[in-house]
Amino acid sequence: SPGLDAEGADGGPRPAGGPLRSTEWYGGNDRNAYLHRAWMRRGLPDHAFDGRPCIAIANTASDLTPCNAHLDEVMQSVKQGVFEAGGIPFNLPVVSLGETTVRPTAMLWRNMAAMAIEEMLRANPVDAVVLLGGCDKTIPSLLMAAASADLPAVVVPGGPMLNGSFRGEPLGCGTDVWKLSEEVRAGALRQKTFLASESSMIRSRGHCNTMGTASTMGLLAEALGMSLPGLAGTPAPDSRLLQGAHLSGTLAVELATERRTPKQVMTAGSFRNAIVALTAIGGSTNAVVHLLAIAGRLGLDLTLDDFDRIGADVPLLVNLQPSGRYLMEDLFRAGGFLAVLDQVRDLLDPEALTVTGEPLVAYLDDQEIYDREVITLRESPLQERAGIAVLRGNLAPTGAIIKPAAASPHLLQHRGTAVVFDSVEDMRARIDDPDLEVDASSVLVLRGCGPRGYPGMPEVANLPLPRKLLEQGVRDMVRVCDGRMSGTAYGTVVLHVSPEAGVGGLLALVRDGDPIDLDVEQRLLHLDVPDDELALRSAPAAMTDALAEPDRGWELLYVNHVTQADRGADLDFLVGSSGSAVRRESH
Ligand code: FES
Ligand code: MG
Repeated sequence: SPGLDAEGADGGPRPAGGPLRSTEWYGGNDRNAYLHRAWMRRGLPDHAFDGRPCIAIANTASDLTPCNAHLDEVMQSVKQGVFEAGGIPFNLPVVSLGETTVRPTAMLWRNMAAMAIEEMLRANPVDAVVLLGGCDKTIPSLLMAAASADLPAVVVPGGPMLNGSFRGEPLGCGTDVWKLSEEVRAGALRQKTFLASESSMIRSRGHCNTMGTASTMGLLAEALGMSLPGLAGTPAPDSRLLQGAHLSGTLAVELATERRTPKQVMTAGSFRNAIVALTAIGGSTNAVVHLLAIAGRLGLDLTLDDFDRIGADVPLLVNLQPSGRYLMEDLFRAGGFLAVLDQVRDLLDPEALTVTGEPLVAYLDDQEIYDREVITLRESPLQERAGIAVLRGNLAPTGAIIKPAAASPHLLQHRGTAVVFDSVEDMRARIDDPDLEVDASSVLVLRGCGPRGYPGMPEVANLPLPRKLLEQGVRDMVRVCDGRMSGTAYGTVVLHVSPEAGVGGLLALVRDGDPIDLDVEQRLLHLDVPDDELALRSAPAAMTDALAEPDRGWELLYVNHVTQADRGADLDFLVGSSGSAVRRESH
């Protein structure tokens, strides 16, 4: 295979360009080499330590991350591929984050997972890593880690669940929970029926089957060039996922010997491709913070405005929930992600490489669409211009975002008066109050939900509508929040408002009744209150009292160092790369 000088006496691969990193541990015959080999043998023969590639499998399998629970089986297939190519695989269980249950929000722990994974890759005798992720934060944390360690890496996206169905209708993870629970609150659906749908939603192994964050980040890992082209989006129970895992293990051995690192794969052109892809698939707004954070680890100057600029002319081609109808299994059946990319091929960077060493566009020949209801042709898109819009104005001087594809067209230009909630708890306590002064034209403001303030920037921006308005048939309103929104959610939601209220953003000073202007076409988010009046205001205690004030542990480190959403909400000292070299020995 390419990159190998010659075969060893035992037929194992020998890397070009000198000994691999793991040889620093296993090479030679001194006391330390003895120590390093002896404990790692576990029945492996002598030649396992003769300089051949050692491949870590960073594995986020966990019973507490049900979306990733099947990754132990995927890991076994990766191992077979590594062995077949003459490398030695090592399962490396890493921090895993289950989106639906982890408190206060899985996002608080994304950076911790990324830091722990980075350091474990650096600390251990490995030459490359296969990254096994699925649920929302897992692929971002793995990519951030691999980028900072700059060890050769390939992602195996764990894949979506099969379609759920309930009473003959497809049931989409997340999206239908939001929808059905609002129907219950509106009195249009019986509680009993709602609960009966619960066991139908999560039908198989795999992550959420809507175009939520997990689906989005799996596909974007491929758009970035970090997985075997054609693999992302393969449903978790499909045997082709295991085949792809096997081949990814084989590829990891090649990556190690060729020393093809994430920095060589993920270039500015790769991020262009990821943003084009994000728009064409109608992907999750969470991808914005994740891509910004990954780029930060690579030293690339990706900004919020790049999303608006690059996404502006990209059409929406995929009819998937939450903005459309179908689910990930349908996308796979209809031709898959590469068939989508083929439609926007002219917008992609022709040079941007994948882990295979070939450019992404090289994989777009012969792609076909088998169901034009699910993947539309470029000539007949679901939306002409589907890019995420970046809004600015006094309410968001460094930016806020909105996904017009998931919003109501009649609200994209709107002036309304604010109804302000100082915390998630305040919102829950009052949103259904019959005396709440609110109508369909009000702008619901929820603050204190930013990276610093909550802490961790939870997915609460798609706050529920007041029950009395739901009962009147209202199904969408303008909402403004410094938090995030689930990738499975929808609505006219302005989110990621930066700077957040918790670090002194103007959002902290909004009062009930203040006029707020939203104009997506003009990219404007404006609080229409005179500056001299704002100068006299201060943030209310109801808001500041609810802000996080941790006194120890990860939360303390986090709140002191987290960057705002427009910078990816990474920790400031984790931006950049330490590389894989560790200066000192352990004995
Ligand atoms: Fe894991 Fe949705 S809860 S992907
Ligand atoms: Mg989520």
